[in-house]
Amino acid sequence: MSIQLSIRDLNKRFKTGDGVKGISLDVMKGELVTLLGPSGCGKTTVLRSIGGFLAPDSGDIQIRGSSILHLPPEKRPTAMVFQSYNLWPHMTVYDNLAFGLKLRKKKKDEIRSLVQEALKLVQLESAEHKTPGLLSGGQQQRVALARALLLEPEVLLLDEPFSALDAKLRMEMREELRDIQRRTGMTMIFVTHDQEEALSISDRIVVMRAGEIEQLSTPQEIYDQPQTLFVAGFIGRINLIKGTGTGRSVAVGEARFEQERAHDGAVIAAVRPEDVYLTEQETNSLPGMIRQIMILGHYAEVSVESGEQVLKMFVPREQSARLHHGQQVRIGFSRVVSFPSPGA
Ligand SMILES: Nc1ncnc2c1ncn2[C@@H]1O[C@H](COP(=O)(O)OP(=O)(O)OP(=O)(O)O)[C@@H](O)[C@H]1O
Ligand SMILES: [Mg+2]
Repeated sequence: MSIQLSIRDLNKRFKTGDGVKGISLDVMKGELVTLLGPSGCGKTTVLRSIGGFLAPDSGDIQIRGSSILHLPPEKRPTAMVFQSYNLWPHMTVYDNLAFGLKLRKKKKDEIRSLVQEALKLVQLESAEHKTPGLLSGGQQQRVALARALLLEPEVLLLDEPFSALDAKLRMEMREELRDIQRRTGMTMIFVTHDQEEALSISDRIVVMRAGEIEQLSTPQEIYDQPQTLFVAGFIGRINLIKGTGTGRSVAVGEARFEQERAHDGAVIAAVRPEDVYLTEQETNSLPGMIRQIMILGHYAEVSVESGEQVLKMFVPREQSARLHHGQQVRIGFSRVVSFPSPGA
């Protein structure tokens, strides 16, 4: 597979001192790569640099091997979908979509068939003659997506496109986008600060922190093998527990567990709630008391107070029915990834 987009050592510093530093990234053709990170970490800065709305201080951005930095936004082979839909309110959906094609001097018949095809792709055939004001937020965002797809960009840029939608709609849109991406083979850069959204739709995720790339891997790797404490804490639910490492073993209180990476001295042991289990064994387990049981559909989230920490664990429904508040239990960890303690 060929490299569609290449960002080489991109630097942009605003007068305030904020910005992005040393961003390098290759995106393959047909890949969906997500920029993920907390507010202000530089996601939009990278995206706007690709789209041409912002001039970087140094570095290069290439699409299919050619630098695009000298091109204004409208001449770049990119299209952008924003959080706010940016549709023309007085035009029908059809005209909103046809507009860009008319500018490109496409013939009337061709425009008609392209627009209808795009509307079918986003499942909005019936909205053709409506104005955007008559559509729901999700429908409007689908129109914005169809409009961007019609420009046939080499790279489609999406900046938190679903964040204004309610949770259920957001999930549907995710699935739809992924489906469209598979069918069209379009290369996409997707920005979000929602880790669940990133895990669910991406081929690869770029986790950013304070203007720099913290980790770049597949969703599975980011979840299972976080390279830093920041990534571990940012992605998914996780317990961060103080411990003492000796080679591949880590001591937490009286108990010892195996750790995936060898670290000596003060460590933070990161344990996902699905890797905490109840046990009868007295050795290599921690005593605790159940503080809370929250039923979350087919499983329950149980909070266990152990020493000075409260640990979260996921328990299947039938097992949680036998637990109660205040109960004394023992817990073990089936998988521990630890990091050198930041204070050490
Ligand atoms: N035009 C600008 N002038 C000065 N500072 C800016 C400008 N644009 C962005 N910044 C700053 O640069 C940093 C990165 O901003 P950016 O918009 O890229 O963050 P983000 O990751 O997209 O955040 P969010 O999730 O809130 O959208 C922030 O500290 C922001 O305040
Ligand atoms: Mg942003």
